[in-house]
Amino acid sequence: MPQLLHLDSSADPLRSVSRQVTARFSDAWHAIGTDHSVIHRDLHSSPLPHLPTSALHWAPHLRSADEIVDASAEALQVELIEELISADVVLIGAPMYNWSIPSTLKAWIDHVHVPGITVPFDSDTAPLVGKPAVVVTSRGNDYSPGSDGASADHATAQLRQVLGVALGMDVHFVPVDLTLAGRVPALEPLVPQSRASLRTALTAVDDLALKLGGALPR
Ligand SMILES: Cc1cc2nc3c(=O)[nH]c(=O)nc-3n(C[C@H](O)[C@H](O)[C@H](O)COP(=O)(O)O)c2cc1C
Repeated sequence: MPQLLHLDSSADPLRSVSRQVTARFSDAWHAIGTDHSVIHRDLHSSPLPHLPTSALHWAPHLRSADEIVDASAEALQVELIEELISADVVLIGAPMYNWSIPSTLKAWIDHVHVPGITVPFDSDTAPLVGKPAVVVTSRGNDYSPGSDGASADHATAQLRQVLGVALGMDVHFVPVDLTLAGRVPALEPLVPQSRASLRTALTAVDDLALKLGGALPR
């Protein structure tokens, strides 16, 4: 039973582009068959707490004797990690906020990036290696390769480092640029480019959902 873990983090309940694109992936995943299930976690409407203690950055056997953790905080971390490990594919809506990611998504990362559990530290433990992750990054301006903004895209760089390098996941980025073209007067001439970027992203997730869901060869 192929399972999708679908995370959203946009704070926009009305016009979120990342939510539009992740919903499209999720719908395409569901449409493959009734056995294709989805767990949806809305990190904005049901936010996780900040990591309450640095002790939770470490697997229990790597904590020092004086690093005491709250049982309910540890139970939440275990739940999040098990949810991630048991998913076949992870879908993440990651709007660009201040050239980086929303704090709600960062809180999730802080809970699941754990040396000794999800990251090899004193052994080869690496349960997420090769697991596909689809990251939809929506951003108001243009950060496409070769654009003036490209070097300021710290969202993609951070997620590539954490999900791809540290956790070893197989990360597919689906960017949508210029989402504010219809709202910011100076970007108005770029509305056609904005629409084209969204169309490309929607086509990309249709294709990825079918491939990662096993309905098309990868
Ligand atoms: C708090 C906040 C910070 C933002 N920072 C940036 C930014 O640094 N660069 C940018 O191009 N757009 C920025 N934007 C615009 C969003 O990236 C853009 O609206 C995007 O579409 C948000 O994703 P969503 O449509 O899924 O909500 C920001 C928006 C908000 C609400």
